Amino acid sequence: MEAVRRGGRRRVRPVAGRTDRPYVLLSCAMSVDGFIDDATPERLLLSNAADFDRVDGERAASDAIVVGANTIRRENPRLAVRSPARRQARVRSGRPATPAKVTLTASGDLDPSANFFADDTLTLVYCPSSARADLATRLGDHAEVIGVGGSLDLSAVLKDLGERGIQRLMVEGGSSVLTSFLTAGVVDELHLAVAPFFVGDAEAPRFVGAGRYRWTPTETMRLVDTTAIGDVALLRYRLSDREAPA
Ligand SMILES: NC(=O)c1ccc[n+]([C@@H]2O[C@H](COP(=O)([O-])OP(=O)(O)OC[C@H]3O[C@@H](n4cnc5c(N)ncnc54)[C@H](OP(=O)(O)O)[C@@H]3O)[C@@H](O)[C@H]2O)c1
Repeated sequence: MEAVRRGGRRRVRPVAGRTDRPYVLLSCAMSVDGFIDDATPERLLLSNAADFDRVDGERAASDAIVVGANTIRRENPRLAVRSPARRQARVRSGRPATPAKVTLTASGDLDPSANFFADDTLTLVYCPSSARADLATRLGDHAEVIGVGGSLDLSAVLKDLGERGIQRLMVEGGSSVLTSFLTAGVVDELHLAVAPFFVGDAEAPRFVGAGRYRWTPTETMRLVDTTAIGDVALLRYRLSDREAPA
């Protein structure tokens, strides 16, 4: 990744012609009845400490992490690698301590004081081209804002990320973003942590919404691993034959 610094924040110039889209890992925790949060303003913890540490390891192995704009508004996540040892290992191998942060927005309703924009990590915001100028002015040096045409086409987003040298992309949610990536058929690996309880609230967000999925009763995903992490069940599926980058 060719990085330059402007105003203290990392920036990476896209290099046209790098055609491979990133390897996409989709990671999510849900209740046993398929909800990824409840309907209250507080964040619902759907995992245990050991599983959060596993997710931290996956973040540390990634070049960039994606969350939807609504997750930024609702959860105000920092998306940093928490473990000092993992941060140091990344730096020793010539990478920034924490992966790049990526979000998608159509409305442009993002607050520059959100934790997502709080450090000098490379931060990329993808939006329709019509919203780019206003959003870039509002976010200033907090992020690079990239317009990708009339609608938010994921293949254009992934192409741009690939051109910026992002080889391994972790998609963390929420529901609309997970639905978009899965229905677009651009996910290579799915990690689903299932919490040992029910949410049971029709107002709460589900893992995914309605859509046309490639994986059906006649074309199923390949379950490659199941692990008990305390009472949390971790299911790992392969959705493509692509190899994860080393
Ligand atoms: N359990 C977990 O692992 C986990 C992880 C992350 C989040 N969550 C939860 O998920 C919930 C949020 O889910 P959500 O579905 O409401 O929101 P979301 O997926 O976080 O964000 C959706 C927003 O992303 C933007 N967007 C633009 N283009 C898009 C595209 N092509 N596909 C999808 N999104 C696009 C839009 O932003 P604009 O509205 O700005 O146009 C859209 O409203 C929260 O409750 C959060 O806590 C759970």
